[in-house]
Amino acid sequence: MPVVAGAISRSALPIEPPSNAELWQLSRDSEAVSAGQKAFTLSSCRTCHGPTLTGGAAPNLVDQRWLHGGTPSEVFQTIVRGVPSRGMPTWGPALDPTVIKQIVAFIFSHHREGEPIEKQESFTPFTPVY
Ligand code: HEC
Repeated sequence: MPVVAGAISRSALPIEPPSNAELWQLSRDSEAVSAGQKAFTLSSCRTCHGPTLTGGAAPNLVDQRWLHGGTPSEVFQTIVRGVPSRGMPTWGPALDPTVIKQIVAFIFSHHREGEPIEKQESFTPFTPVY
């Protein structure tokens, strides 16, 4: 395979997380939120986190308990990096940062700015009841 000088694979590029202010604002933008909802389904987030985001094979994303930080900027970062050792895929190489922003906007459209954030130490998968 030819090696192109200066070519860097996208996965090697660090992705700067947007600010909390920018992501909260996006969470109130209905176009961004509905684009995020679509991406959430198409990217299979829904398979693990559930159609209502209330979890099952993966944690609930609409409660106030977070394993890896509950500010929008931290959640953006968790999605980019994933938690491969715990079954959460690394999405940075697969999704455009704009799409990740929309997904974060969709998640935070279920939250309220300034709500308390509780630290959750570990996650145990459960069978959701709808
Ligand atoms: C194969 C199953 C699976 C898929 C698909 C998946 N996740 Fe996850 N996700 C997990 C698991 C398991 C965890 C918990 C990791 C841990 O225990 O640290 C997690 C954790 C998270 C967290 C951190 C939650 C917290 O409390 O800090 C966020 C945010 C998240 N996922 C978003 C997403 C998004 C957005 C997508 C789609 C782009 C996605 N996930 C797709 C399994 C999945």
